[in-house]
Amino acid sequence: MERVTVAVPSRTYDVTVASGILDEAGAHLPELAGVERAFVVADTNVAERYLEPLGRGLAERGWARVHLVVPEGEDAKTLPMATVLHRQLATQEAHRDDLVVALGGGSVGDLAGFVAATYMRGVPFLQVPTTLTAQVDAAVGGKTAVNLPEGKNLVGAFHQPVAVLADVATLSTLGDRQYGSGLAEVAKYALTLDVELLEMLERDPAAVLERRPPVLEPLVARCIRAKAAVVGEDERDAGRRLVLNYGHTLGHALERLDSFAGRSHGEAISIGMTFAARLAEELGIATSGLAARHARLFTALGLNALGSLPPADEVLAAMRMDKKYRGGMRFVLLEDVGRPIVVDPIDEDPLRRILEQMRTREWSGR
Ligand SMILES: NC(=O)c1ccc[n+]([C@@H]2O[C@H](COP(=O)([O-])OP(=O)(O)OC[C@H]3O[C@@H](n4cnc5c(N)ncnc54)[C@H](O)[C@@H]3O)[C@@H](O)[C@H]2O)c1
Ligand SMILES: [Zn+2]
Repeated sequence: MERVTVAVPSRTYDVTVASGILDEAGAHLPELAGVERAFVVADTNVAERYLEPLGRGLAERGWARVHLVVPEGEDAKTLPMATVLHRQLATQEAHRDDLVVALGGGSVGDLAGFVAATYMRGVPFLQVPTTLTAQVDAAVGGKTAVNLPEGKNLVGAFHQPVAVLADVATLSTLGDRQYGSGLAEVAKYALTLDVELLEMLERDPAAVLERRPPVLEPLVARCIRAKAAVVGEDERDAGRRLVLNYGHTLGHALERLDSFAGRSHGEAISIGMTFAARLAEELGIATSGLAARHARLFTALGLNALGSLPPADEVLAAMRMDKKYRGGMRFVLLEDVGRPIVVDPIDEDPLRRILEQMRTREWSGR
């Protein structure tokens, strides 16, 4: 079992990373005065597998468990769905000390967190992430949001959980695509912030793909430690948190062009990170070899680092729509692995050139 403490100005809380701990959840939570019921937000797919054990774990504390059902995945992250949950809490007379629990992936976490942030101006919130993406990224840091038809995450709030329980045993039932998507975020921490983790992944990628708990526990904990350090310096996303966006400028643009239906988020940011590494080489920020190292890592983890790219002009237009765009393209680049910097503004000429090189395979990962 591993424990990571997240300390941000608004709160300090623990993340417990272990295998098979849902049914002892109560033992890993802090003192929470006044909780009578735990309102567990989960889709039926996740609830079928994990609601019973979690319910037993919460019952240890004498809390009754109420299941609030939501649709699977991104479809849950809407204002109408948030309203449905707000009204279920209200009709069931949830009070301000009751606990809202997110059991599931990042979508359920973002939605339930937003509901917990806004119901009665904020109620206690527990994260129980069951995807790799949610364990290493979404469940930590306090960002919550729902989507609008106009775009992703446009309505949200900062609301830190009281605790996070990351049970790595739940990752065994994830589909390969979903697991691989999370591995791209793992690679992101490794490349930007944790060179020792990078070397572990490079040495033995198969160990990670096997998903054995003794390997996953330290892996997930390392990523959370990396994120916690960044978030601790920058709770509300004013600067340092930008490094968590490595590969995401191009990644988000590709997702937008695929209208969120094509490749997974992890596939999109793998291409984005490889692109950023090529850009760092091209601008003389990194020495040559960095991009090839990215491509080798992603290939070893079963991710496609080149993919198929739309024409450069379409990609550039989509990148200009990025939230991080402030009068010019802005990128997180690596001087080397473990040494991220923010560079802006960036000229569009090298961007276009590299996009074309990657699209036509003039640069093929070597
Ligand atoms: N708040 C943040 O800081 C932050 C960070 C990263 C991502 N996100 C958000 O997270 C969302 C993506 O989350 P995601 O990748 O976890 O996917 P998801 O939550 O959209 O979907 C997960 C899918 O996997 C299934 N599932 C979940 N756990 C399972 C398990 N253990 N076994 C089998 N199936 C399981 C679910 O039923 C669902 O169909 C996006 O909306 C993204 O914006 C938020
Ligand atoms: Zn991401």
